[in-house]
Order: sequence, then structure tokens, then C-alpha cells
Amino acid sequence: MGEARSRVAPHVARLPKSGIRRFFDIVAQSKDVISLGVGEPDFDTPWHIARAAATCLENGGTHYTSNLGTPELRAAICRYLKRRFDAHFDWRGETLVTVGVSEAIDLAVRALCSPGDEVIYHEPCFVSYAPTIALAHAVPVPVATRAEDGFALRVEDIEKKATSRTKALLVNFPCNPTGATLSEGQMLEVLEFCERRDIVLLADEVYSELRYDIAPDEQIRSFTSFPRFRDRVVLLNGFSKSWAMTGFRLGYACGPGDIIDAMMKIHQYGIMSAPTISQAAGVEAMDLGDVDVSRMRGEYRRRRDYLVRELNALGLKTAMPQGAFYVFADVSSTGLSDEDFALKLLKEGGVAAVPGSAFGESGRGYLRLSYATSLAKIEEAVRRMAKVVNGTCLAPSAAAGSGKTPAVCLLPKRGKQAFYRVNAE
Ligand SMILES: Cc1ncc(COP(=O)(O)O)c(C=O)c1O
Repeated sequence: MGEARSRVAPHVARLPKSGIRRFFDIVAQSKDVISLGVGEPDFDTPWHIARAAATCLENGGTHYTSNLGTPELRAAICRYLKRRFDAHFDWRGETLVTVGVSEAIDLAVRALCSPGDEVIYHEPCFVSYAPTIALAHAVPVPVATRAEDGFALRVEDIEKKATSRTKALLVNFPCNPTGATLSEGQMLEVLEFCERRDIVLLADEVYSELRYDIAPDEQIRSFTSFPRFRDRVVLLNGFSKSWAMTGFRLGYACGPGDIIDAMMKIHQYGIMSAPTISQAAGVEAMDLGDVDVSRMRGEYRRRRDYLVRELNALGLKTAMPQGAFYVFADVSSTGLSDEDFALKLLKEGGVAAVPGSAFGESGRGYLRLSYATSLAKIEEAVRRMAKVVNGTCLAPSAAAGSGKTPAVCLLPKRGKQAFYRVNAE
């Protein structure tokens, strides 16, 4: 008898499990852990938004909607993008409502790529990019970004990776996990590169509202804010982060009609339509949710400022991120790898944070800490981290070069049971 035929398709069997998932399996078995690992707002969905879903349900909103999404939500999305991004899309043919940004990324890659086509993306990045591209039988082509450039994307680096098979460039700013943002000039350079190479830009802007470098009522400069390039940009955006709506599973894609139409075909057969009650909540968020975003953004900013200051004081070099709700701390001064330091922090300090290498090779040596957790918990986490860092050898060269004195050892206050939530991210 020959060897048993594998039941699982080889390209699926080859996929590694998420590095984050593996790490959180360990966290799940630990007690009294403060998690700075979650990529999910700690805020509940603003009540008026959740109530719109409940009202929809009370009114019998239990049926499918149009495959594209309800006309009400698509029109509200286009109103919002005009107001906040100065971006202009037609809700009839250029807007598709999806099950989170996750589905929008998947649809865009599948709609554009034939087997063997290449998609360039930057690392460190959201853990789903490479697997999503591979599942579409396309080739993931990572480009490293670096701390010395503020983790911005350099066109000369992308240029080196482009070939005749490159179909798309997938970018995420503000960035998970680095918190990096791009200036208008940097965005223009990326758009011009896409034009020169005749490729489509897939702009994952799920953290677009969480920017700390612009005034709350200032318009957001998005990749969709440049009319000259409107024919080659697909915006992938959603509600999870800015409006604390992760469980609603709601997102959208806006872009050229031919691409949105192709994405809709895949969505139509695989999903049918995004959840009806979530779409009703989405209308409320788009039209009346600015005030909620503003409130949560202010709180995130307070936490970010505190966390960055404290990490630097501990000798863990951390730049001030201008977006999202993550800091990306350089832990090389501990003399440990990012994975070993994260494990030590978890086991000895009861603090969970994600090793940077889970986000790609160029994340090695860093730790992603999320501040989508209350300030009280972040303060306690910092006290615990101080204890672990003080017990960990600072690499002599790093410590000397930084001119840092060893951090003061603050004993953690052991009080209430720390909270822990597993994140499916
Ligand atoms: C960069 C990025 N894109 C997309 C997503 C997925 O978002 P959604 O909940 O809308 O599927 C996440 C979630 O963590 C993310 O960080």
C-alpha cells in the first residue's frame, strides 16, 4: 500500500499557526496575568451604537441584506469618508460592506491575484497578511521597515522587491504593531511608486481614527485623499478599533468599481452579506460616532504617554508612536531574545505582551505592548515589569551606550485578581 494521501491541502498544511496564538495558549494557563497583549479596545461599544443594533433586531432585522451591504450603511460610509478623509466614493458601485477588515483584505487579495502573482507588504505587520496572501495562492513578499526610519515604508526598499508578477502593495498605517504613521509626502511617494509600476495599493487603514499627531477635528490624510490616484487605491477599513466594535464583525472596502465588483462576487458566494444588525450599528457609528472616537482617543493618548515614558525609564528604548494603540519596545538591552524576554515577563512578572518576531523577522528584538487596557492595569504592569527588568542582565554595550542607570525596583502591588482576555487576533 502506498503512503496515505494527505487530506489537508499542502498550502494550508504548510501555514504556521499564529505566533500570537501560541503565546496566548500559554497565557491562558497562567493566573493573575495582566495582558498588554490584546489588540482589542477595552472599552465597550458606545451604547447608542449598540442600541442601534438592538433596535434593528426589535424591528425584525433578521434577514439577509444586499450582498454589497445596506444602502443606508454604504451611503453613511461614503458621507463619513468625505467628511473625515476628503475621499469621494459612490456608495452604489464603489463600496462593499464586509465581515471586518479581515474579510476585506482576503477579498482584495483574492480578487486581484492569480496563482503565483506577488503581493508586497511591509514587516513587522498584522499577523494575517502573509497567510492571507498564501491562501490566495499568491506569493507574499515582505519588505522590512526599521526603527531608525520610524518604521515608515521606504520606496527604495519596495522598489527592490517589485517584479513583473507584483500585483499589489498591501500597507497598514497607522501600523499594527509599530504604531507608525506616514506623512503626506511619504504617502505620495508610495502612490507614485504604485503608478510607476502599475500596481494596486491595498490600504488597510483600520486604525485611521487613532492618530495622536492631528487635532481631533482635523481631517485625516488617507491614501484615498489623493484624487489623482483614485483608480489604483482600495481602502480597507472598519469599525473594530475606532468604535470598539470588534464583536460586530463589520468592515468595508471602497475603491475602483471593477475591483469592488470582483470582490463582491467572492463575498457573495462565501458570505452573502455582513450581519444585518451590525450594519445598523455601523450607520450610527458613521453618522454620530465622532464624539466617542474622540473620547477613546484621548484616553489612549494618556496611556501611551505614560507607557512610553516608563518603558524608556526601564531602559527599554521605545519611540513615541503616533497611531494605533500599541508601543513597540526594543528589548535587546535585556540580553534576551524577544521571545525569551516575553516568556520571562509572563512567568516571573505576570505580564503578557507579544514578542515582536510574531509580526515578522524585522520585529525580532522588540515587544509589542497594547495600551488598550485601563491605565490602572498598565501602571501595575509597569511595576511588575520593573521587577523583571531589574533582575535581568542589561547587555553591557546597550546599557553603556544608552547612558541609562538601572531602573528602580518597585515591588508590584498584589491586589485584585488581574484580568485576562484571549484575543483571536
Ligand atoms: C492591521 C489590522 N488590520 C485588520 C485587522 C482586523 O480587523 P477586523 O476586526 O476589522 O477584522 C486588525 C486586527 O487586529 C489589524 O490590526
